[in-house]
Amino acid sequence: MDFSIFDELLDGVLVIGLDYKIVYSNDSAKKLLGVKENDFCKGLFSICGSCPLKLVLEERESVQVYDIKTNTDVHACWSMSPLLNGDTCEGVVEVFKDVSNVVSCILESQRQKTYKETILNSIVEAMLVLDEKGNIVEHNNIAKKMLCRTQEESLVGRHVKELVNLSLEELPPEGERADIYIETPCGRQKASTLVSPMQLGFGYVVSFYVIQQDQMSFCDKPDYVFTKSPTFQKILDLVNSCAEHNVNVLIEGETGTGKSLLAKYIHLLSPRRDAPFVKVNCAAIPESLLEAELFGYVKGAFTGATKDKPGKAEIADGGTLFLDEIGDMPLSLQAKILHLVEEKEFERLGSNTSRKTNIRITASTNKDLKEAMRQGRFREDLYYRLNVVNIRIPPLRERKEDIPLLVNFFIEKYAKLYSKKVKFVSGDAMKMLLSYDFPGNVRELEHIVEKAVITSKGSVVGVEDISLDFQNHNYQQKEEKENIKAILEKVNYNKSLAAKMLGIHRTTLWRKLKELGLS
Ligand SMILES: Nc1ncnc2c1ncn2[C@@H]1O[C@H](COP(=O)(O)OP(=O)(O)OP(=O)(O)O)[C@@H](O)[C@H]1O
Ligand SMILES: [Mg+2]
Repeated sequence: MDFSIFDELLDGVLVIGLDYKIVYSNDSAKKLLGVKENDFCKGLFSICGSCPLKLVLEERESVQVYDIKTNTDVHACWSMSPLLNGDTCEGVVEVFKDVSNVVSCILESQRQKTYKETILNSIVEAMLVLDEKGNIVEHNNIAKKMLCRTQEESLVGRHVKELVNLSLEELPPEGERADIYIETPCGRQKASTLVSPMQLGFGYVVSFYVIQQDQMSFCDKPDYVFTKSPTFQKILDLVNSCAEHNVNVLIEGETGTGKSLLAKYIHLLSPRRDAPFVKVNCAAIPESLLEAELFGYVKGAFTGATKDKPGKAEIADGGTLFLDEIGDMPLSLQAKILHLVEEKEFERLGSNTSRKTNIRITASTNKDLKEAMRQGRFREDLYYRLNVVNIRIPPLRERKEDIPLLVNFFIEKYAKLYSKKVKFVSGDAMKMLLSYDFPGNVRELEHIVEKAVITSKGSVVGVEDISLDFQNHNYQQKEEKENIKAILEKVNYNKSLAAKMLGIHRTTLWRKLKELGLS
């Protein structure tokens, strides 16, 4: 066969016979491999160790390898094809091209990619690389932790506006850091942001970190009451409109929902804010001492009363008296409390002289006072006196939208307290928190976050830092389920009656039945 048509080709060409001898080699092949005709071809390429010649002959199909090395250490793109003469296979043709430049470009781009990834991930700020339209083309690990709820969620291809609620027009000018609000799975966050446009109009690099969130408070009034929940928002509207008047307020809600916090908040919004806010925990003080605690005593009133002492009702003069856990107020004292509430008048223990005090009264309870009235444990007249404005704080499981907000607030609070660098929780950790029902409400959430801040290592609270009492929770749920079931059976499934017996509202029973899978 005449192979001279290959003589001038820039690609190297070798024709190999069935005996592995070189039948023909063009000038390029000779130059690159230093071979001549009749040499054995073995060892010319790195692929020779598993020479495909037999396979090519048998299958009569070509093979191609994009990067092999020659005996002269050159990277080559190489192929072997059967050399057919009619039906007979007379050998193979190897064609190869020096691709060293291409390979070094690939290696260089891999090196650049590793540099870039290492640099991006060593920066403590979240970084997003955007194309000219604002779509994310690259990001660092911090950005993923901050903006994704799950590990599987991807940022690439999504628009920056969708992720951080920020359009390109709203981005701060080039080179200027600006504090802007961004939407993250952890809620609205204030972030210091820097934008760097890329040359040739390729897009932008946006970097940001979450900063102090003083402005996150629901309003700029003292003490923080955080909420995003429309129900709680309505409560705050009510509080804002009644705080300045001297009306009595009764705050109801499960344990840890923020009743005490709200009572203090009402005081601070009222014109009495500079006078004392005095709290009496009716559940914590033994019945025998409660009267003395509330109204004070005179010398000799009882053994140990060596001098006159004012009670809390007197100390609160000009301010607010907060009767915490009023549901636990002993019946024997309720008449005197009623008198205090109605007339703002009382007598110190052991004295017949009545005294006046200028107080506003707020009260709270986690008990069902209506049921307590039915059972004769709470006076109706006192209930209606205290309950001029009624506030029922919903449990946290009914306003899960508050969880991210509160988590951020507590992270900031405890990071400061324990001098930790923690800034936010990971998406997975937030998801875990959102799936929990918090029987202990905000107080339980606060303790969980405090513990997580203490145990977390870096700037992010992870799933491993969060311990939820699912077991106890499940156990409590089981007990509750059994109890409700037993009562329902007792009253022949009359839900109104069952709610009454359980001391809960009908709608609460309805919700519980759904939650516990009993409806
Ligand atoms: N909306 C809120 N924003 C910020 N912190 C809150 C909020 N609600 C509750 N907290 C915090 O949660 C904790 C529990 O709140 P608080 O003591 O007011 O609850 P409570 O309903 O009075 O509980 P208990 O029934 O046990 O007396 C407190 O540390 C409080 O500051
Ligand atoms: Mg309280």
